Amino acid sequence: MAQDRPSSTYGHLAMQYRDKADAPLAARLLREIGFKECYSIASTEAGPYSGPFHHFVIDESANRGTDRILFLLQMPPALREVYDEINEKLGVGTDHQSAKVTAMREALAHDPEYGFHAAVVMHSLEELEAMVLRLQKLNAEDPELKGHIRVTPNRARPGTPEVDARMDASPVFKDVTRHCYGPNGVQVFVETDLLVGGPLGDNFAFEFDYVFPGYKDNILNAPSSDAEELLAAQDA
Ligand SMILES: [Fe+2]
Repeated sequence: MAQDRPSSTYGHLAMQYRDKADAPLAARLLREIGFKECYSIASTEAGPYSGPFHHFVIDESANRGTDRILFLLQMPPALREVYDEINEKLGVGTDHQSAKVTAMREALAHDPEYGFHAAVVMHSLEELEAMVLRLQKLNAEDPELKGHIRVTPNRARPGTPEVDARMDASPVFKDVTRHCYGPNGVQVFVETDLLVGGPLGDNFAFEFDYVFPGYKDNILNAPSSDAEELLAAQDA
């Protein structure tokens, strides 16, 4: 169908942190990922959203764009109370934790794709690799962020010689045995307990994708029939 009008676009992703004290670290993680902070507003003690509000865009080049916005704000009290009750009733983190919670956590630990997440398609594999190395270092060594970040890379499926060679030469993907969903692309999941997500409100997952140019469409960056056919072949 011919496009004779500008398309509607994705507006924003609103992310939440739990406590006011979590705001500086949550905002720092988003900056360390590489998102561009446009401005922030200090808290107003009177309202339900008492912590700071931050406005990011996913890429400095996307500043003033309309479909790449991330908001960061505090979880409102009524929502917090529901999450607290869910965790309490299911015994999350206790010796009587629900078996269903244990099974869900195991599934998510095996594959972050299993749960709710938000994905960014990167324009540069080199930038994606630099981000991964930066986050892995922060998670290992940084006094504030240590232990708050889990990075899970999926390398490109084997079969395209030049892509395979690039993977073997990559400081991030060379030793990875997990594979991307779809051909000629990579995925990296970044999970953190500093942001709210999922049914227990204890974890949020970003996905960062890169698709090598010049091949048939990948499901990660183009919902075309090419992507559908390639996916069917992959699953066969
Ligand atoms: Fe995904």
